[in-house]
Amino acid sequence: MTISVNERVVAAPASSCDAELAKGPWEFDAMPGYGPGASEDDVIPEPIVRRGQLPAAYQRASQEDLHERILAAKAKLGDKLVILGHFYQRDEVIQYADFVGDSFQLANAALTKPDAETIMFCGVHFMAETANILARPGQRVILPNLAAGCSMADMADEDSVDDCWEEITEIYGSDTDAEGKQPVIPVTYMNSSAALKAFCGKHGGIVCTSSNASTVLEWAFERGQRVLFFPDQHLGRNTAKAMGIPLEQMPMWNPRKPLGGNTEAELRDAKVLLWHGFCSVHKRFTVAQIDKARADYPGVQVIVHPECPMPVVDAADAAGSTDFIRKAIEAADPGSVLAIGTEINMVNRLQAEHPDKTIFCLDPVVCPCSTMYRIHPGYLAWTLEGLVEGEVRNEIVVEPHIAKDAKVALERMLAALPK
Ligand code: 13P
Ligand code: SF4
Repeated sequence: MTISVNERVVAAPASSCDAELAKGPWEFDAMPGYGPGASEDDVIPEPIVRRGQLPAAYQRASQEDLHERILAAKAKLGDKLVILGHFYQRDEVIQYADFVGDSFQLANAALTKPDAETIMFCGVHFMAETANILARPGQRVILPNLAAGCSMADMADEDSVDDCWEEITEIYGSDTDAEGKQPVIPVTYMNSSAALKAFCGKHGGIVCTSSNASTVLEWAFERGQRVLFFPDQHLGRNTAKAMGIPLEQMPMWNPRKPLGGNTEAELRDAKVLLWHGFCSVHKRFTVAQIDKARADYPGVQVIVHPECPMPVVDAADAAGSTDFIRKAIEAADPGSVLAIGTEINMVNRLQAEHPDKTIFCLDPVVCPCSTMYRIHPGYLAWTLEGLVEGEVRNEIVVEPHIAKDAKVALERMLAALPK
């Protein structure tokens, strides 16, 4: 008999990045700030809420009660509901998901469920916005906790990107060259607001995910002389470097500095302008951790997410999206040892699914994606029971004029298949 997540005894982590984690996964977090997984360098917008609106009765309910209520609501809603869960989502929530995947797959999964009236997105805000933009008319998207954002997505706001675009347009002009290429193509990582996806749609640009980033950069270089890549500098740098673009032609754009902290000559010579953004979870991985894994487990395979810094990706055996990591683990021979550089909930789940292999997280400190972690089963129960009662809670609706342009960039992304 398999033990459900609710029956498992959840031990407090031995060492974690945030004291709040010691409380265990069923307790609510309520402190201001990004919480576990955040770093001191995060640019934290004000005001930031960690806990969305949730009636006290749901906060007081026992895990068993919440479990029963979620299952009952799910059964009542039947095919009218599809629950999507990102790989980084905690197991206490993933157990209810109809489909678990990476952000590219979840964007597609939403499309393949035309009969579902409601897409319950157990991921983060930018993923739910994307699902809303791609949903068919009459489908709604719900994010159980509206405070489930992404600290990296918050690092590029619309005003700063507009300012950057104005500054670089002054330098590059807006005319195409002899080959018909635009001076710059904007490329936004999926981990960004709908407004920035719309910006890309309006300016001949595209969205990428970590699974199709190289296809997308090729698409962009067929149409432009350069790329402005935001918000994740690491995914941009790692992908462009693998395509042979020299580091000297990848200046960083710091939105708080004039010309992003560069000279005009550096910008003219650039092939990829990298926005100064990063993921706090993936930034924690280091080459020293890889060296230690190799010393402790000779023959270990090291696989990391491309949001990790470049030296970490270079020192690893392979780098790829969350789905790439999952497939690599599945393909590994029984008895293999794999050290993984990505979010802890996903790594722990993979270890549980593959007891014949040794799978561990490179970071010895337990550090989940703090924003994904905000989707507690209490929020899921509350939003699902609302639907049963005919009340739609926490719906994500992108304004139509933003959705229209964002869809252009997202459809280009969906056509750029991962290699
Ligand atoms: P994937 O695109 O691999 O799903 O990753 C999303 C993400 O947020 C990684 O931090
Ligand atoms: Fe954002 Fe990092 Fe969490 Fe991914 S892991 S959703 S980039 S904060």
